[in-house]
Amino acid sequence: MKKYWFFVVGSLCMTLMVFPSWKASAPQAFTLSSKVNDVLFALGQPKPSWYPEDLSEAAIERGREMIFNGRTTAPDGSKSKFISVYYMCTNCHNTVIEDPILTVADPQARLEYAAQHDIPFLQGTTFYGITNRETWYNDDYYKKYGDLVKPANENLAEAVQLCAMECSQGRPVEDWEIQSIIAYYTTIGYSLSDIGFSEQDLSALNADIASGKNTVKWVENIRGRYLHKSPATFLEPPYDNYWETLRGKGDAANGKLVYELSCQACHKSYGVSDVVFGDDKQEFKQFNRWFKKNDWWLFQVVRHGTHPAPGHREYMPHYTKERMTDQQVEDLRAYILERAGKGS
Ligand code: HEC
Ligand code: HEC
Repeated sequence: MKKYWFFVVGSLCMTLMVFPSWKASAPQAFTLSSKVNDVLFALGQPKPSWYPEDLSEAAIERGREMIFNGRTTAPDGSKSKFISVYYMCTNCHNTVIEDPILTVADPQARLEYAAQHDIPFLQGTTFYGITNRETWYNDDYYKKYGDLVKPANENLAEAVQLCAMECSQGRPVEDWEIQSIIAYYTTIGYSLSDIGFSEQDLSALNADIASGKNTVKWVENIRGRYLHKSPATFLEPPYDNYWETLRGKGDAANGKLVYELSCQACHKSYGVSDVVFGDDKQEFKQFNRWFKKNDWWLFQVVRHGTHPAPGHREYMPHYTKERMTDQQVEDLRAYILERAGKGS
């Protein structure tokens, strides 16, 4: 009997020596579809405080339903209330990649990409990669929401809360709802292939992770491949230099893209807005009459949006410089004039 135990313990030790991975779990090899955040965590980057603990299928599904349908079934089995009775999150945010190059916020590149991929061109930033950002409601957004942006700036959970209540004119969302929304967001975080990793990059990364080498270098390499925030500059209509630099220089074909992929995304029948922008000549003639009264109306509505009013909470979010250029607004003006049968 004694001999037998000696044998068992002995062979166990041998096995542990041959397969060191049994002692400590071996670092798993990443693939091109691995999420960037999981790689950064493996490289020793800390998990942000808002990172959800529950990443179960059920939590992810609840988050997906809230984003696409506005409500879900709570963990206790009851049906949750709509977050907003006016909007779905997807009225203002895409859920797929919208920038062809992830290191720049270029509205014209985004517009062309939107046309190629048949996605709308909206005021809110895409949710894709939102867990890879490190600050939210950046730059000039404090001008709109004041002190409310401070917590939202550093914490994605607070940013979700701010948008639910202010941007979407809805109710406060509960903790489990925020956690589920973020759980869904992790599924549309950047993958290594999204940020341009090649097979060679991948094997070098896996080899270095296995041997614990070049950690700092990899963190820098990875973080250099996408923007860490969505920049936001508020603009006023370009009053001073407009007449010399922009006026009459619109490209109607580009303006058509703005009209169809952006304005009509909300101003369509059964859309978010009761104001429907159609495609017949009369419609464009009406717009042109507005220009006769006020040269700036189009720039004003784009740069200021409209405001929620008591009894009519639906409002139009404004476009920042990073979400629409002055040139694109002038392009839209050229398209309106062309369709109304007027020259610019
Ligand atoms: C009426 C339009 C609108 C609706 C509806 C809307 N948002 Fe937003 N949201 C915005 C705008 C505009 C911003 C600020 C620009 C931006 O995306 O950074 C924003 C910002 C955010 C941000 C911070 C993004 C960042 O990178 O700074 C989060 C998170 C967010 N919204 C979540 C949601 C969620 C969740 C919903 C649905 C419950 C929702 N939003 C519905 C317009 C909207
Ligand atoms: C995210 C949704 C959304 C997008 C995109 C959008 N709008 Fe709006 N817009 C609204 C809402 C909501 C209102 C408020 C009026 C209402 O629906 O009752 C509004 C109001 C307006 C008004 C005032 C209408 C009136 O008679 O009071 C104008 C003009 C306008 N939008 C033009 C535009 C143009 C031009 C674009 C494209 C560059 C655009 N909108 C894109 C949602 C949107």
